[in-house]
Amino acid sequence: MPVATAADPAFETRLAAAADHVEAALAALLSGDPAAGETARPERLIAAMRHGVLAGGKRLRPFLVIESAALFGLAPEAAVRAAAALELVHCYSLVHDDLPAMDDDDVRRGRPTVHKAYDEASAILAGDALLTLAFDVMASPETHADPAVRAELVVMLARAAGVGGMAGGQVLDLTAEGRFADGRPLSLADAEIRRLQAMKTGALIRFACEAGAVLGRAPGDRRAALAAYGETVGLAFQIADDLIDVEGDAAEAGKATGKDAARGKGTLVSLNGTTWARDELTRLVSDAEAKLAAFGERAGVLAAAARFVAFRTA
Ligand code: IPE
Ligand code: IPE
Ligand code: MG
Ligand code: MG
Ligand code: MG
Repeated sequence: MPVATAADPAFETRLAAAADHVEAALAALLSGDPAAGETARPERLIAAMRHGVLAGGKRLRPFLVIESAALFGLAPEAAVRAAAALELVHCYSLVHDDLPAMDDDDVRRGRPTVHKAYDEASAILAGDALLTLAFDVMASPETHADPAVRAELVVMLARAAGVGGMAGGQVLDLTAEGRFADGRPLSLADAEIRRLQAMKTGALIRFACEAGAVLGRAPGDRRAALAAYGETVGLAFQIADDLIDVEGDAAEAGKATGKDAARGKGTLVSLNGTTWARDELTRLVSDAEAKLAAFGERAGVLAAAARFVAFRTA
Protein backbone atom coordinates (compact mmCIF):
# COMPACT_ATOMS: atom_id res chain seq x y z
CA MET A 1 0.00 0.00 0.00
CA PRO A 2 1.42 3.44 -0.85
CA VAL A 3 2.27 5.52 2.19
CA ALA A 4 0.09 8.61 2.50
CA THR A 5 1.94 11.65 3.75
CA ALA A 6 -0.86 14.16 3.17
CA ALA A 7 -3.22 15.19 5.96
CA ASP A 8 -5.88 12.60 6.78
CA PRO A 9 -9.00 14.52 7.89
CA ALA A 10 -10.84 11.46 9.25
CA PHE A 11 -7.87 10.51 11.40
CA GLU A 12 -7.34 14.07 12.59
CA THR A 13 -10.98 14.37 13.64
CA ARG A 14 -10.70 11.22 15.72
CA LEU A 15 -7.40 12.31 17.27
CA ALA A 16 -8.94 15.68 18.20
CA ALA A 17 -11.99 13.97 19.72
CA ALA A 18 -9.82 11.69 21.86
CA ALA A 19 -7.66 14.67 22.88
CA ASP A 20 -10.73 16.66 24.00
CA HIS A 21 -11.99 13.71 25.96
CA VAL A 22 -8.72 13.07 27.75
CA GLU A 23 -8.08 16.77 28.33
CA ALA A 24 -11.36 17.04 30.26
CA ALA A 25 -10.50 13.95 32.32
CA LEU A 26 -7.01 15.27 33.10
CA ALA A 27 -8.32 18.70 34.10
CA ALA A 28 -10.74 17.06 36.54
CA LEU A 29 -8.01 14.82 37.99
CA LEU A 30 -5.75 17.84 38.47
CA SER A 31 -8.31 19.87 40.38
CA GLY A 32 -7.08 21.98 43.28
CA ASP A 33 -9.51 20.22 45.62
CA PRO A 34 -8.12 17.30 47.62
CA ALA A 35 -9.43 13.83 46.75
CA ALA A 36 -10.77 11.47 49.42
CA GLY A 37 -7.92 10.51 51.73
CA GLU A 38 -5.73 13.46 50.75
CA THR A 39 -5.09 16.27 53.24
CA ALA A 40 -4.52 19.24 50.92
CA ARG A 41 -3.16 19.97 47.44
CA PRO A 42 -0.45 22.62 47.84
CA GLU A 43 -1.03 25.39 45.32
CA ARG A 44 2.53 25.41 43.99
CA LEU A 45 2.63 21.66 43.37
CA ILE A 46 -0.77 21.34 41.70
CA ALA A 47 0.03 24.39 39.54
CA ALA A 48 3.33 22.82 38.42
CA MET A 49 1.53 19.54 37.68
CA ARG A 50 -1.15 21.34 35.66
CA HIS A 51 1.57 23.21 33.75
CA GLY A 52 3.19 19.90 32.81
CA VAL A 53 -0.01 18.22 31.71
CA LEU A 54 -2.72 20.60 30.50
CA ALA A 55 -2.84 22.65 27.31
CA GLY A 56 -0.70 21.10 24.64
CA GLY A 57 0.53 17.72 23.60
CA LYS A 58 -0.72 15.54 20.79
CA ARG A 59 -2.34 13.11 23.25
CA LEU A 60 -1.26 10.30 20.96
CA ARG A 61 -0.91 7.67 23.69
CA PRO A 62 -4.44 8.24 25.07
CA PHE A 63 -5.75 8.13 21.50
CA LEU A 64 -4.12 4.71 21.02
CA VAL A 65 -5.72 3.40 24.23
CA ILE A 66 -9.17 4.66 23.19
CA GLU A 67 -8.92 3.40 19.60
CA SER A 68 -7.49 0.01 20.57
CA ALA A 69 -10.31 -0.44 23.07
CA ALA A 70 -12.82 0.61 20.39
CA LEU A 71 -11.80 -2.46 18.34
CA PHE A 72 -13.43 -4.54 21.10
CA GLY A 73 -16.60 -2.46 21.26
CA LEU A 74 -15.66 -0.09 24.09
CA ALA A 75 -16.95 3.48 24.03
CA PRO A 76 -14.36 6.22 24.66
CA GLU A 77 -15.85 6.77 28.13
CA ALA A 78 -14.87 3.21 29.09
CA ALA A 79 -11.23 3.77 28.15
CA VAL A 80 -10.63 7.42 29.03
CA ARG A 81 -9.43 6.91 32.60
CA ALA A 82 -6.82 4.34 31.60
CA ALA A 83 -5.86 6.70 28.77
CA ALA A 84 -5.53 9.61 31.19
CA ALA A 85 -3.43 7.53 33.59
CA LEU A 86 -1.00 6.75 30.77
CA GLU A 87 -0.85 10.42 29.72
CA LEU A 88 0.03 11.35 33.31
CA VAL A 89 3.01 8.98 33.16
CA HIS A 90 4.03 10.38 29.77
CA CYS A 91 3.81 13.99 31.02
CA TYR A 92 5.83 13.12 34.13
CA SER A 93 8.48 11.58 31.86
CA LEU A 94 8.67 14.84 29.87
CA VAL A 95 8.90 17.02 33.01
CA HIS A 96 11.86 14.97 34.24
CA ASP A 97 13.40 14.55 30.74
CA ASP A 98 13.63 18.35 30.47
CA LEU A 99 15.40 18.85 33.81
CA PRO A 100 18.97 20.22 33.78
CA ALA A 101 20.20 16.85 35.08
CA MET A 102 18.76 15.20 31.97
CA ASP A 103 18.20 16.95 28.60
CA ASP A 104 18.25 20.48 30.06
CA ASP A 105 15.50 21.98 27.93
CA ASP A 106 13.75 25.33 28.41
CA VAL A 107 10.79 24.92 26.06
CA ARG A 108 8.17 22.16 25.84
CA ARG A 109 4.87 22.28 23.96
CA GLY A 110 5.67 25.87 23.04
CA ARG A 111 5.89 27.01 26.65
CA PRO A 112 8.57 27.16 29.35
CA THR A 113 9.38 23.75 30.81
CA VAL A 114 8.11 23.13 34.33
CA HIS A 115 11.47 23.80 36.00
CA LYS A 116 11.70 27.10 34.10
CA ALA A 117 8.16 28.20 34.92
CA TYR A 118 8.58 27.08 38.58
CA ASP A 119 11.88 25.65 39.84
CA GLU A 120 13.74 22.33 39.82
CA ALA A 121 12.39 21.07 43.14
CA SER A 122 8.82 21.78 42.04
CA ALA A 123 9.45 20.02 38.70
CA ILE A 124 10.90 16.93 40.40
CA LEU A 125 8.01 16.78 42.85
CA ALA A 126 5.41 17.48 40.14
CA GLY A 127 6.84 14.49 38.23
CA ASP A 128 6.72 12.32 41.35
CA ALA A 129 3.12 13.33 42.04
CA LEU A 130 2.03 12.79 38.41
CA LEU A 131 3.50 9.29 38.41
CA THR A 132 1.79 8.34 41.65
CA LEU A 133 -1.48 9.94 40.54
CA ALA A 134 -1.36 7.78 37.41
CA PHE A 135 -1.40 4.61 39.49
CA ASP A 136 -4.13 6.03 41.74
CA VAL A 137 -6.26 6.61 38.62
CA MET A 138 -5.52 3.23 37.06
CA ALA A 139 -6.28 1.29 40.25
CA SER A 140 -9.51 3.12 41.09
CA PRO A 141 -12.82 1.30 40.58
CA GLU A 142 -14.12 3.83 38.01
CA THR A 143 -11.38 2.71 35.58
CA HIS A 144 -12.84 -0.79 35.04
CA ALA A 145 -15.50 -2.79 36.85
CA ASP A 146 -13.25 -5.86 37.15
CA PRO A 147 -10.48 -5.52 39.78
CA ALA A 148 -8.42 -8.17 37.96
CA VAL A 149 -8.37 -6.00 34.84
CA ARG A 150 -7.30 -2.98 36.88
CA ALA A 151 -4.54 -4.94 38.62
CA GLU A 152 -3.27 -6.22 35.28
CA LEU A 153 -3.16 -2.69 33.86
CA VAL A 154 -1.30 -1.45 36.95
CA VAL A 155 1.38 -4.14 36.60
CA MET A 156 1.71 -3.54 32.86
CA LEU A 157 2.04 0.22 33.32
CA ALA A 158 4.58 -0.20 36.12
CA ARG A 159 6.72 -2.40 33.91
CA ALA A 160 6.38 -0.09 30.90
CA ALA A 161 7.40 2.95 32.98
CA GLY A 162 10.05 1.50 35.26
CA VAL A 163 13.54 0.08 35.33
CA GLY A 164 12.88 -2.32 32.43
CA GLY A 165 10.93 0.26 30.43
CA MET A 166 10.93 4.05 30.14
CA ALA A 167 13.15 4.89 33.12
CA GLY A 168 15.64 2.20 32.13
CA GLY A 169 15.66 3.53 28.57
CA GLN A 170 16.32 7.05 29.81
CA VAL A 171 19.40 5.79 31.67
CA LEU A 172 20.66 4.08 28.51
CA ASP A 173 19.99 7.32 26.58
CA LEU A 174 22.11 9.34 29.02
CA THR A 175 24.78 6.62 29.15
CA ALA A 176 25.13 6.80 25.35
CA GLU A 177 25.66 10.55 25.70
CA GLY A 178 28.58 9.86 28.02
CA ARG A 179 26.96 11.42 31.06
CA PHE A 180 28.18 8.85 33.57
CA ALA A 181 31.48 7.33 34.64
CA ASP A 182 34.33 8.65 32.50
CA GLY A 183 31.95 10.77 30.47
CA ARG A 184 32.94 9.37 27.08
CA PRO A 185 30.07 9.03 24.58
CA LEU A 186 29.47 5.44 23.54
CA SER A 187 28.95 4.58 19.92
CA LEU A 188 26.01 2.22 20.01
CA ALA A 189 25.27 -0.29 17.29
CA ASP A 190 21.93 -0.28 15.47
CA ALA A 191 20.48 -3.06 17.64
CA GLU A 192 21.53 -1.33 20.87
CA ILE A 193 19.84 1.92 19.83
CA ARG A 194 16.66 0.02 18.90
CA ARG A 195 16.64 -1.55 22.35
CA LEU A 196 17.22 1.80 24.08
CA GLN A 197 14.38 3.36 22.08
CA ALA A 198 12.04 0.39 22.60
CA MET A 199 12.49 1.05 26.32
CA LYS A 200 12.48 4.85 26.61
CA THR A 201 9.66 5.47 24.11
CA GLY A 202 8.33 2.16 22.79
CA ALA A 203 7.27 0.72 26.13
CA LEU A 204 4.61 3.36 26.85
CA ILE A 205 3.32 3.28 23.26
CA ARG A 206 3.13 -0.50 23.30
CA PHE A 207 1.33 -0.24 26.63
CA ALA A 208 -1.22 2.15 25.06
CA CYS A 209 -2.15 -0.37 22.38
CA GLU A 210 -2.15 -3.42 24.64
CA ALA A 211 -4.17 -1.62 27.34
CA GLY A 212 -7.06 -1.21 24.90
CA ALA A 213 -7.06 -4.98 24.42
CA VAL A 214 -6.95 -5.64 28.17
CA LEU A 215 -9.81 -3.20 28.84
CA GLY A 216 -11.79 -4.92 26.08
CA ARG A 217 -10.95 -8.44 27.32
CA ALA A 218 -9.53 -9.30 23.92
CA PRO A 219 -8.49 -12.82 22.94
CA GLY A 220 -4.74 -13.47 23.31
CA ASP A 221 -3.94 -13.36 19.61
CA ARG A 222 -5.61 -9.95 19.18
CA ARG A 223 -3.85 -8.59 22.23
CA ALA A 224 -0.51 -9.84 20.92
CA ALA A 225 -1.19 -8.27 17.51
CA LEU A 226 -1.87 -4.88 19.13
CA ALA A 227 1.24 -5.16 21.31
CA ALA A 228 3.32 -5.91 18.20
CA TYR A 229 1.72 -2.98 16.36
CA GLY A 230 2.53 -0.77 19.38
CA GLU A 231 6.18 -1.84 19.39
CA THR A 232 6.52 -0.97 15.72
CA VAL A 233 4.76 2.38 16.13
CA GLY A 234 6.93 3.11 19.17
CA LEU A 235 10.14 2.67 17.20
CA ALA A 236 8.75 4.79 14.35
CA PHE A 237 7.73 7.43 16.89
CA GLN A 238 11.27 7.91 18.22
CA ILE A 239 12.89 7.84 14.77
CA ALA A 240 10.44 10.57 13.72
CA ASP A 241 11.25 12.52 16.90
CA ASP A 242 14.96 12.22 16.17
CA LEU A 243 14.40 13.36 12.55
CA ILE A 244 12.46 16.39 13.83
CA ASP A 245 15.47 17.20 16.02
CA VAL A 246 17.70 17.25 12.93
CA GLU A 247 15.40 18.72 10.28
CA GLY A 248 12.41 20.13 12.10
CA ASP A 249 11.32 23.61 13.02
CA ALA A 250 11.54 24.44 16.73
CA ALA A 251 8.47 26.71 16.66
CA GLU A 252 6.38 24.01 15.00
CA ALA A 253 7.73 21.26 17.26
CA GLY A 254 7.19 23.42 20.35
CA LYS A 255 10.63 22.44 21.68
CA ALA A 256 14.29 23.06 20.88
CA THR A 257 15.70 21.21 17.87
CA GLY A 258 19.24 20.58 16.70
CA LYS A 259 20.46 19.35 20.08
CA ASP A 260 20.80 15.58 19.80
CA ALA A 261 23.93 15.41 17.62
CA ALA A 262 25.81 17.98 19.72
CA ARG A 263 25.02 16.03 22.85
CA GLY A 264 26.01 12.71 21.32
CA LYS A 265 22.58 11.13 21.71
CA GLY A 266 22.42 7.57 20.43
CA THR A 267 19.89 7.76 17.60
CA LEU A 268 19.33 5.76 14.44
CA VAL A 269 19.24 9.06 12.55
CA SER A 270 22.77 9.97 13.67
CA LEU A 271 23.99 6.44 12.98
CA ASN A 272 22.40 5.90 9.57
CA GLY A 273 21.43 9.34 8.23
CA THR A 274 18.19 11.10 7.39
CA THR A 275 17.56 9.42 4.03
CA TRP A 276 17.88 6.01 5.63
CA ALA A 277 15.58 7.16 8.46
CA ARG A 278 12.82 8.19 6.07
CA ASP A 279 13.07 4.84 4.27
CA GLU A 280 13.00 3.02 7.59
CA LEU A 281 9.87 4.95 8.60
CA THR A 282 8.15 3.89 5.38
CA ARG A 283 9.12 0.29 6.10
CA LEU A 284 7.90 0.52 9.70
CA VAL A 285 4.53 1.93 8.60
CA SER A 286 4.01 -1.08 6.29
CA ASP A 287 5.09 -3.36 9.11
CA ALA A 288 2.63 -1.71 11.54
CA GLU A 289 -0.20 -2.03 9.00
CA ALA A 290 0.64 -5.72 8.47
CA LYS A 291 0.33 -6.33 12.21
CA LEU A 292 -3.25 -5.04 12.08
CA ALA A 293 -4.26 -7.43 9.31
CA ALA A 294 -6.50 -9.61 11.49
CA PHE A 295 -8.70 -6.60 12.34
CA GLY A 296 -9.51 -5.80 8.71
CA GLU A 297 -10.91 -2.40 7.83
CA ARG A 298 -11.91 -1.64 11.41
CA ALA A 299 -8.25 -0.95 12.15
CA GLY A 300 -8.04 1.75 9.46
CA VAL A 301 -7.74 4.47 12.08
CA LEU A 302 -4.77 2.72 13.72
CA ALA A 303 -3.11 2.32 10.30
CA ALA A 304 -3.60 6.07 9.82
CA ALA A 305 -2.09 6.62 13.26
CA ALA A 306 1.08 4.77 12.19
CA ARG A 307 1.39 7.06 9.16
CA PHE A 308 0.78 10.13 11.31
CA VAL A 309 3.45 9.06 13.81
CA ALA A 310 6.02 8.38 11.11
CA PHE A 311 5.51 11.47 8.95
CA ARG A 312 4.61 14.11 11.53
CA THR A 313 6.56 17.35 11.81
CA ALA A 314 5.70 18.09 15.45
C1 IPE B 1 7.83 13.43 23.12
O1 IPE B 1 6.59 12.82 23.04
C2 IPE B 1 8.78 12.54 23.83
C3 IPE B 1 9.15 11.33 23.11
C4 IPE B 1 8.85 10.15 23.55
C5 IPE B 1 9.90 11.43 21.88
P1 IPE B 1 5.39 13.47 22.20
O2 IPE B 1 5.90 13.91 20.85
O3 IPE B 1 4.23 12.53 22.22
O4 IPE B 1 5.04 14.76 23.06
P2 IPE B 1 3.65 15.51 23.23
O5 IPE B 1 2.92 14.78 24.31
O6 IPE B 1 2.91 15.51 21.93
O7 IPE B 1 4.06 16.90 23.67
C1 IPE C 1 12.22 11.39 25.42
O1 IPE C 1 13.03 11.34 24.32
C2 IPE C 1 11.74 10.08 25.83
C3 IPE C 1 11.11 10.13 27.16
C4 IPE C 1 11.01 9.07 27.87
C5 IPE C 1 10.58 11.38 27.73
P1 IPE C 1 13.58 12.77 23.90
O2 IPE C 1 14.43 13.36 24.95
O3 IPE C 1 14.14 12.68 22.51
O4 IPE C 1 12.21 13.59 23.81
P2 IPE C 1 12.11 15.14 23.48
O5 IPE C 1 12.75 15.33 22.14
O6 IPE C 1 12.81 15.87 24.59
O7 IPE C 1 10.63 15.40 23.42
MG1 MG D 1 15.63 12.65 26.48
MG1 MG E 1 14.44 15.41 25.67
MG1 MG F 1 13.85 14.17 21.00
